Amino acid sequence: MSGFDKNWLALREPADRHARAKSLVDMLCRHLAEGHPPPSLLDIGCGTGSTYRTLSSLVPQDTRWQLLDYDPLLLEEAARRIGSSAAVTLRQHDLNDLTALPLDGVSVVTASALFDLCSADFCSRFLDRLTGNRTGLYASLNYDGVMEWTIAHPLDRSVVDSFNRHQRLDKGFGPALGPDATEHLRLSLEAAGYQVTTRSSPWRLGADQQDLQAELLRGMERPVMEIGAVSSNDLQDWLAFRLSAVNADNSSCVVGHTDLLAIHPG
Ligand SMILES: C[S@@+](CC[C@H](N)C(=O)[O-])C[C@H]1O[C@@H](n2cnc3c(N)ncnc32)[C@H](O)[C@@H]1O
Repeated sequence: MSGFDKNWLALREPADRHARAKSLVDMLCRHLAEGHPPPSLLDIGCGTGSTYRTLSSLVPQDTRWQLLDYDPLLLEEAARRIGSSAAVTLRQHDLNDLTALPLDGVSVVTASALFDLCSADFCSRFLDRLTGNRTGLYASLNYDGVMEWTIAHPLDRSVVDSFNRHQRLDKGFGPALGPDATEHLRLSLEAAGYQVTTRSSPWRLGADQQDLQAELLRGMERPVMEIGAVSSNDLQDWLAFRLSAVNADNSSCVVGHTDLLAIHPG
């Protein structure tokens, strides 16, 4: 089990779909259409298949997909939701085993909400494999450290600072890049000769996404407590205020993300 709950992934999927930078999706689709057919995508850290569901109707029709995750329960849910399709292969694989990553013939590796969990060392070893094959990368929805609410609370900054510190702890790949993930990937891929484009892809959560806002807030409690810079009483006050504000008409929340598309010109 990865600790990523299928219900949480289902809750965030519509917000992710809406947030993705459309211009990068268009560039990705054009790149796949111009390459050698049939295009082949490898979605790493696929969860229940959110990236597949979002992109499969947009990329060329003959695109083949490999969806890879190490969590058998999420892969089971992906299989249930996607159904049987000759174009899709599900693979259980731990990304820490990069040598066996099935990159042969892959046009572009895709990932969503993954690279902020990864360390600089993991990215460097992953990019060695990617750039060796001149494979492209579409890394979307990397959290960028921004979290803001229209209705302010005096502890917002301290809580978000603690949350962002926690984002940099080890999430299974060594010390995580957290909010620095996109910039790290951009610099490394440009140094390897790739054409890299990044675009902002924030969640803008309003009154119609109260469940997602509330779940996001509840999910912040444990990481902020673990950092220990905000007292338990203060955190509980903040959380109670934030959860009640979710129901206010004029309440909304921005959670910053960045998308990246890297294509080798050769
Ligand atoms: C935040 S979730 C994103 C899931 C999916 N991409 C989405 O957007 O809904 C991160 C995913 O990375 C997977 N993951 C984390 N560590 C992994 C590892 N070492 N090997 C393979 N998958 C991993 C988790 O199981 C989870 O599905």
